[in-house]
Amino acid sequence: MRNHDPVTRTASHPAIRPEVALHPVDDNDTWWRSAVIYQIYPRSWADSDGDGMGDLPGITARLEHLTYLGADAIWLSPFYPSPQADAGYDVADYRDVDPRFGTLADADALVARAHELRLKVIVDLVPNHSSDEHAWFRAALAAGPGSPERERYHFRDGKGRRGTKPPNNWESVFGGTAWTRVTERDGRPGQWYLHLFDPKQPDFNWDHQQVRAEFESVLRFWLDRGIDGFRVDVAHGLVKKPGLPDWSRRTNMLGDTEEAAAHVLDATEPQPTHLSPCWDQDGVHEIYRSWRAVLDSYGGPDRILCAEAWVEPPERAVLYTRPDEMHQAFNFDFLLTPWIAQDLVAVIQQSLAAADSVGAPSTWVLSNHDVVRHATRLGYAPGTKRRNGIGADDPQPDRKVGLKRARAATALMLALPGGAYLYQGEELGLPDSTTMPDEARQDPTYLRSGGAELGRDGCRVPMPWARDAPGFGFGPSAGTWLPQPEVYGAYAADQQRGVADSTLELYRTLLRVRRELGLGRASLALVDGYAADVVALEAVGPGGARVLVVANLGTAAVQLPEGVEVLVTSGRLDGGGAVPTDTTVWARWR
Ligand code: NOJ
Repeated sequence: MRNHDPVTRTASHPAIRPEVALHPVDDNDTWWRSAVIYQIYPRSWADSDGDGMGDLPGITARLEHLTYLGADAIWLSPFYPSPQADAGYDVADYRDVDPRFGTLADADALVARAHELRLKVIVDLVPNHSSDEHAWFRAALAAGPGSPERERYHFRDGKGRRGTKPPNNWESVFGGTAWTRVTERDGRPGQWYLHLFDPKQPDFNWDHQQVRAEFESVLRFWLDRGIDGFRVDVAHGLVKKPGLPDWSRRTNMLGDTEEAAAHVLDATEPQPTHLSPCWDQDGVHEIYRSWRAVLDSYGGPDRILCAEAWVEPPERAVLYTRPDEMHQAFNFDFLLTPWIAQDLVAVIQQSLAAADSVGAPSTWVLSNHDVVRHATRLGYAPGTKRRNGIGADDPQPDRKVGLKRARAATALMLALPGGAYLYQGEELGLPDSTTMPDEARQDPTYLRSGGAELGRDGCRVPMPWARDAPGFGFGPSAGTWLPQPEVYGAYAADQQRGVADSTLELYRTLLRVRRELGLGRASLALVDGYAADVVALEAVGPGGARVLVVANLGTAAVQLPEGVEVLVTSGRLDGGGAVPTDTTVWARWR
């Protein structure tokens, strides 16, 4: 019997005691240490001009959604001029706005409006690579082999008598070789350049002083415009091992697959990321120390850096958040953890211990623009193997179970101390589009893997705002750059606002209570007395509020102890007030 007699185990107070302290209360109330940051994917949040693509004025017009929700900050994925070969993560000019998204004046207006609404604004910085349409890369192509212009990227002669083979065996994260051969000005095949991602994303050479100076200047450009921080793309990739040696394993980031999840918790097969010559080289830290000095020179309130660094083990990942480096790093281990109570407890424990070891707050995230949304991921049995992206021919998730678990997972996440990241649409319980026609797909992962990986389009579908409007209210036309599945109408924001039990109202309540009780800065302890398929925690806020958090991942309902008042629950409690399967409750001692 898995859930051994939960009633008697939990009915008396002595069994409900904090057993293992995980984390002390945080006395520092600097905003970012406990902020809830909402990710906006500009292509897909709101379209103001009817071209089917979201834009900055569209975002500005809808910012009130976030004050209604109760978020503290927004992070905007890239909106810079870009050929959009990787949805804007291929930047052609770091100091401007792509006309598809608006103008610099629109960016200024967005920041001003957000600040009026007391929302901080974080922008995406993409320093590992530029677009091949960036002025420096064009100059490098024009200037030819051996030129100073080529030194700002990784150009090499090919192997073999005629240089027909790539300089090393590295593979691109998106599939295929990580090298592309250029045609020189005389019309002949010439040197090769490195791109860990798409061929249209050449990697910068970070050993070059001009690259370093340029990015410090870009930081200042946006800081001078009043932004509050940067999310740093591929923060673990900038520095490569000298000599660019061959590497027999795949040039991979930890992906969004169950295999990756297994890897996170599989102590028998640790694969430290820094063994790869492409990732997590020690030299990256010097770069972030210099950036931190730039940010600090702007004085208070703090402006922040958040690392996107797919690094294992956690002890190395937290090096990015030492006191003189970045403020935060995404906690992908949490995102990758399967819906298994013991695994969640382990990852919470590990994450807090690792972050505490450098004095940084942990962060928590369940969805973003690169992974299958958690409402969909959790609609499969834990441990199910699936590809990166789901198509109509794949086994479909159980949407109802997925949503129930997603709500429970979010309620667990938002009870944890530290910062939390939300991805647009998750507050509506939005699932991925899992039946998108292949001809609609735009992610380079799909194209470069020859369809073996379907890619990330499923989580990037434009937002549904209004059930009965064309394009579900995404913009003034019915156009949307990716097709919206019919089912999105039922999830539209206008169907949920003010509706008790809706996912939107659940998120609102969670964020309100989290703020009121200071859960983002609370101490945390494991609570004894529950079955192994239950996560039971006690958080004590800086003001002394004691909150019991019970997430039931088992099959038997879990009785709450006497003397608690339920503050919020991710789903209905059963008739006797017990916590059913796949439900999380926050309760307070009366
Ligand atoms: C991580 C970003 O989140 C992803 O969308 C992008 O494709 C890669 N970095 C390359 O910039």
